Amino acid sequence: MTDFKKIDNMQINENVFRLIGKDWMLITAGNLNSYNMMTASWGGMGVLWNKQIAICFIRPQRYTYEFVEKNDLFTISFFEETHRPILSYLGTESGRTVNKMRTEGLTPLSSENNSVYFKEAKLVLECRKLYFDDINADNFLNAGIDKLYPIKDYHRMYFGEIITCLEKNS
Ligand SMILES: Cc1cc2nc3c(=O)[nH]c(=O)nc-3n(C[C@H](O)[C@H](O)[C@H](O)COP(=O)(O)O)c2cc1C
Repeated sequence: MTDFKKIDNMQINENVFRLIGKDWMLITAGNLNSYNMMTASWGGMGVLWNKQIAICFIRPQRYTYEFVEKNDLFTISFFEETHRPILSYLGTESGRTVNKMRTEGLTPLSSENNSVYFKEAKLVLECRKLYFDDINADNFLNAGIDKLYPIKDYHRMYFGEIITCLEKNS
């Protein structure tokens, strides 16, 4: 028996602001042989180009950035509160210095499309990259935003079509 069932995106029964901004998410790219993941709390879900999409914002120095660049797919995994310490760890350590593939408490699984998600997740979105762009400081309309970039490491935004949505079986 599998741990997850595929659901239609329309059946996602969560508040996106809480899910991303408060609970946080894990962005993962690569395949079971080589992948990396990082915690993120900035992003979104919505509708664009008649597709249901998720958006991630990844600073260029992240190791995960290299994996998202190299791969057509990325996954977004959401967890119960019990996994907060693991998300904190994956949001402070870099895969450049620790092997995140050996993270205790996380069991990697491969999707039908060979992307990686985690058995412990409660909800997983598998996304196919559609578009990227880099934040352009010339376009800030609020002076406070640039203060979030003291070293001018402007995020790259990735817009991904949500091609699979997996929910943990209850
Ligand atoms: C709660 C939280 C939210 C974060 N959100 C983001 C984000 O949206 N974008 C980003 O580039 N980094 C974000 N980070 C920082 C990365 O997770 C962190 O730099 C991580 O160590 C990168 O790992 P990597 O080098 O293995 O990719 C966040 C960290 C935490 C703890």
